[in-house]
Amino acid sequence: MNLFRKTFAEINLSSLKHNVDWIKTHFPQSPFLCPMVKGNAYGHGDIIIAKALSEMNVSHLGVCLIEEALWIKNAGVKTPLVVFRGFDNEGAKEIIRNGFIPIVSQWEQIEYLEKNIKEAAIPIHLKFDTGMNRLGFNVKEADKLFERFWKHPKLRVKALVTHLYQGEDFLISEGHSQRQLQKINQVASQFSSLKPIVHTLNSAGIVGSFLQKKHLQTQYGLRPGLLIYGYQSPMLNTNDPLPSLKPVMSIKSIVSDIRHISKGVGVSYSHTWIAKRDSVIAIIPIGYADGIHRQLSNKGEVIIRNKKAPIVGSICMDYLMVDLTEIMSEVEITKNEEVILFGSNKDQSLLLGADEVADKLQTITWEVLTSIGVRVPRVISNL
Ligand SMILES: Cc1ncc(COP(=O)(O)O)c(C=O)c1O
Repeated sequence: MNLFRKTFAEINLSSLKHNVDWIKTHFPQSPFLCPMVKGNAYGHGDIIIAKALSEMNVSHLGVCLIEEALWIKNAGVKTPLVVFRGFDNEGAKEIIRNGFIPIVSQWEQIEYLEKNIKEAAIPIHLKFDTGMNRLGFNVKEADKLFERFWKHPKLRVKALVTHLYQGEDFLISEGHSQRQLQKINQVASQFSSLKPIVHTLNSAGIVGSFLQKKHLQTQYGLRPGLLIYGYQSPMLNTNDPLPSLKPVMSIKSIVSDIRHISKGVGVSYSHTWIAKRDSVIAIIPIGYADGIHRQLSNKGEVIIRNKKAPIVGSICMDYLMVDLTEIMSEVEITKNEEVILFGSNKDQSLLLGADEVADKLQTITWEVLTSIGVRVPRVISNL
């Protein structure tokens, strides 16, 4: 691939493997490991990540859309794909035709599947709403659903599903997460004769279960997203060390030009930054069209030569400017010097996390990662 702009997202597959291995080692009994590759694999590039995860022998891959499942399957990925978003009659046909595993959350969806199913029975996962109030059957409907499925000739309930809406409180015994688990366990006992697995644990649930020291025995299925990409949300009620993970994505660019400006001169649109002293400004060819949020104008930082340098002036669609004055008082920076927007340097030491960027933006790490646009080429690294 020609990188005329020299701006790219480095996707470190060794770090991905490190994070997945951490999960596998610590959850040996879990019957289901379904990393989430929806949202372009949290911005990392879904084909790259899905292929790499397939080689790591995960049991399933999770997507939101049928479109995402088709895209990944058509790229040659053989690992079973679980489609989490609901579907209509046309969607049911596509799911059956392609052998995807549907998460069924509504009565109509059962009918769509029944109407379109061919000779062979298919596996389905039933989703229950244990408090998120987004998707899933009411837990009070469990008996009625069991009646519908226990001798169903074509639809096999292989799993029961629920989603933690506040996994950070996993360690609080009467907290939201534990109450949700009690509810899904109750449903599981109603379905016990069908022997479904139960998948509940997102990244926070996985870390919570590890900190609770219940991980070695857990029978819950795992659906890690953020964790496999090297980040975690802070857990409540603990000071114990969190797992040591490696961020997979680093956004890299270069100094494409350097300008020396005098005190009092403004930079970028509307001159929202005025030099307080004679300054050295670097032009970096990446902007908000690439997913670097404009709210980082005069607020964010980048890494140059292992040091932080402030973003100054408004971030443009294709560029941002950085004040090098401080760094240049110590070292000489010239054109083409590497710039890291977030991620790690060549030694794989994390210099500026996507979580730190998220804090600056008062948002969450998930949003920072998934914001990285299609215009930024994903370049694989195996270091
Ligand atoms: C149903 C479902 N399971 C698992 C995940 C993974 O969550 P996390 O990235 O917090 O691990 C998500 C993410 O939004 C989800 O929607």
